[in-house]
Amino acid sequence: MKREVIVACDFSTREETLAFLDLFKEEKPFIKIGMELYYSCGPDIVRQIKDRGHKIFLDLKLHDIPNTVYRAMRNLADLKVDMVNVHAAGTSEMIRAARRALDEKGSDAILLSVTQLTSTTEEIMQQELWIPHPMADTVRHYAAVSQGAGCHGVVCSPLEVQDVIRECGEGFITVTPGIRFTQDEKGDQKRVTTPAGAHHLGSHYIVMGRPITTAADPVAAYRRATAAFEKGIEE
Ligand code: C5P
Repeated sequence: MKREVIVACDFSTREETLAFLDLFKEEKPFIKIGMELYYSCGPDIVRQIKDRGHKIFLDLKLHDIPNTVYRAMRNLADLKVDMVNVHAAGTSEMIRAARRALDEKGSDAILLSVTQLTSTTEEIMQQELWIPHPMADTVRHYAAVSQGAGCHGVVCSPLEVQDVIRECGEGFITVTPGIRFTQDEKGDQKRVTTPAGAHHLGSHYIVMGRPITTAADPVAAYRRATAAFEKGIEE
């Protein structure tokens, strides 16, 4: 299995983003463009990063009525990115609408659903989202619904990867944010592990933002994450 580190480019300006990418002379990291960058720079930033030869995960987490998601996903399909996503909480009809939009456009983008954000604890999920189940069961159930509706995989915490694999099979892709070099640098993330930990838990892709983008040497941090994730050895 090829394991890849996806770098979350959570910047607000084109200049910051391109200056960050310019640091990478030898590698072409898989880049995640999320709401912060997309809402400030629009689709042009996607084209620009793609033209530089990076694979792109466009992480806009669509969550709306099926018709709106269908029409939005048709537009995103034109950007020809490698990975897109929706919120599983939008339910199967919405996910199928996203699937249909991609299929009609002939897109081969990996379609993921977000199960539960890695910043959400089981307690908050139960108290505020009013989901009376354990986190692992909820993620597993959302993964099964998403698979049935046409997703290739899910975004989940590395801690739930084994549950998802048991439910959906080895071929179902798991993309896991909530990765830190050591467990004590969590920030706002709650359900976290290290790159080597994610390897052992079976993640296909890990998403890392701040531990790489705010590192004194981002290229070194990216290499450190890649080596640890590929080999499963703590740096
Ligand atoms: O900086 P950090 O490594 O915490 O960045 C994680 C990235 O992954 C952020 O861009 C965040 O939006 C995204 N993400 C997440 N949890 C999810 C889905 C996406 O943290 N369930």
